[in-house]
Amino acid sequence: MLITFEGIDGAGKSTQITKLIGWFERKGIETISLREPGGTDAAEKIRRILLDSSGEITPLGELLLFSASRAELVQQVIIPALESEKTVILDRFYDSTTAYQGYGRGLDLDMLRSIIQISTCGIVPDITVFLDLDPETALKRKFAEKSIPIAFDSDELDRMERSGLEFYRKVHQGYRETIRQNANRFVILDAKENADIIHLKIKEIIRQRFPFSAAIKQ
Ligand SMILES: Nc1ncnc2c1ncn2[C@@H]1O[C@H](COP(=O)(O)OP(=O)(O)O)[C@@H](O)[C@H]1O
Ligand SMILES: [Mg+2]
Repeated sequence: MLITFEGIDGAGKSTQITKLIGWFERKGIETISLREPGGTDAAEKIRRILLDSSGEITPLGELLLFSASRAELVQQVIIPALESEKTVILDRFYDSTTAYQGYGRGLDLDMLRSIIQISTCGIVPDITVFLDLDPETALKRKFAEKSIPIAFDSDELDRMERSGLEFYRKVHQGYRETIRQNANRFVILDAKENADIIHLKIKEIIRQRFPFSAAIKQ
């Protein structure tokens, strides 16, 4: 089973994945949790290129590097894990590419679809949990994490912070459009709710949707 988590930065993906892994472990369900880019030797090297060269990579180059890393992860890790009946949890997958590189950066969506199809070998998640958070709240969480004052009005924000908010808005809108086109695969949860409540809802959805081992029903 392949479970992916999506949502803008600060939505709570890492928080929920940690809780879900804990639950699966307690139930004795063998789980692999992965985060792109990375996860194989070559993919880790690509990760370093993406992180080290910030600002010097074009959107197209960024897309292709992410996709190369994804192709390695899919072929070397995800497909073998799924074939041996393991549960794979991904912190972001190709929906992030659509939302960020497509709607956020404005790359052609048809071109993206082709590259996604190639780089994933056609793998589609069984379920995608979308943690829905408005960009303002997401940024506020980031301000809080960094212990810097919250200030959204234009006088107090610098150019980067303002473009950050606009970029997040485009990405959020991109997610909405992706969800509309893949309604059956997505579960949308209100990321403003308490993290434990969200976890309960995720557990309930997984119980309902997947006739797992008997263990998970307990
Ligand atoms: N449901 C929630 N309500 C309020 N704050 C949350 C919630 N979930 C996570 N957070 C906090 O928001 C911040 C971002 O969460 P994180 O799980 O790292 O998000 P992501 O992985 O999506 O970027 C962290 O400081 C985290 O403690
Ligand atoms: Mg995270």
